[in-house]
Amino acid sequence: MPVVTIAQSKGGAGKTTLTLALASEYAALGGIVTVLDADRQNSMVNWYNDRLAEDRAGTGITVVDASQLRDVDIGNAIKRAKADASLVLVDSEGTSNFKTAYAAQDSDYVVVPTRSSRLDLERTVETSEMLARMCKGIQFRVLITQTGQVARSKAELEIDRQISSAFPTFDERMHTLDAFRAMSNYRMTLNEVQQAGLAKCERARAIAQGVLATILEDLKGKDRVNG
Ligand SMILES: Nc1ncnc2c1ncn2[C@@H]1O[C@H](COP(=O)(O)OP(=O)(O)OP(=O)(O)O)[C@@H](O)[C@H]1O
Ligand SMILES: [Mg+2]
Repeated sequence: MPVVTIAQSKGGAGKTTLTLALASEYAALGGIVTVLDADRQNSMVNWYNDRLAEDRAGTGITVVDASQLRDVDIGNAIKRAKADASLVLVDSEGTSNFKTAYAAQDSDYVVVPTRSSRLDLERTVETSEMLARMCKGIQFRVLITQTGQVARSKAELEIDRQISSAFPTFDERMHTLDAFRAMSNYRMTLNEVQQAGLAKCERARAIAQGVLATILEDLKGKDRVNG
């Protein structure tokens, strides 16, 4: 039961969207996912509560509010979540804070979403420094988000190059797609959005599946090293 924290101290980089996409694709494979919402904005909790209110909870995804816990108690919440789920995701807040650092300490893996902008890159450096200081040896990758599928500016491509040379990155880019936005707009998983015909989902699902597969492969590699 791997625990994956989505961390990035820059707001709006795509943490919650990525959390939803990964939870969607893992649950679509029949897996049981618990999401710990460690962000006081409670985006994931609101998504889940709206589903409960409409009797639409049954997807294999449960969301637990971890935002009101003391920072030091997030580890216990992770432990409890691991008992019930085959994947635990922690959606963290868009600030630099101890709750995220402690969650990462108790995780097997961290994903750091970042847009191709200098402002995001600065916060990506901050997040990776936090990981290096507080979670020595933790596996992480940076995921470039909210990019156009085709036309990209020279400046964006240069920032991408800097990110890829400084950090381990995913081959996938999380393009700006209606399907990703539809998950929060309609309180749905990606496959529900697809089934309801609310947005074109093939590309979004392939990206989410690719990111999920890379995380699971990386974790398998770790198990091999640790025997
Ligand atoms: N790949 C994407 N395609 C389309 N829209 C996206 C994508 N990623 C994020 N967005 C949109 O950008 C906004 C910010 O994304 P999101 O809420 O996921 O970021 P966040 O990192 O969780 O923010 P915060 O730090 O405030 O928690 C949202 O309106 C979301 O719908
Ligand atoms: Mg968020």
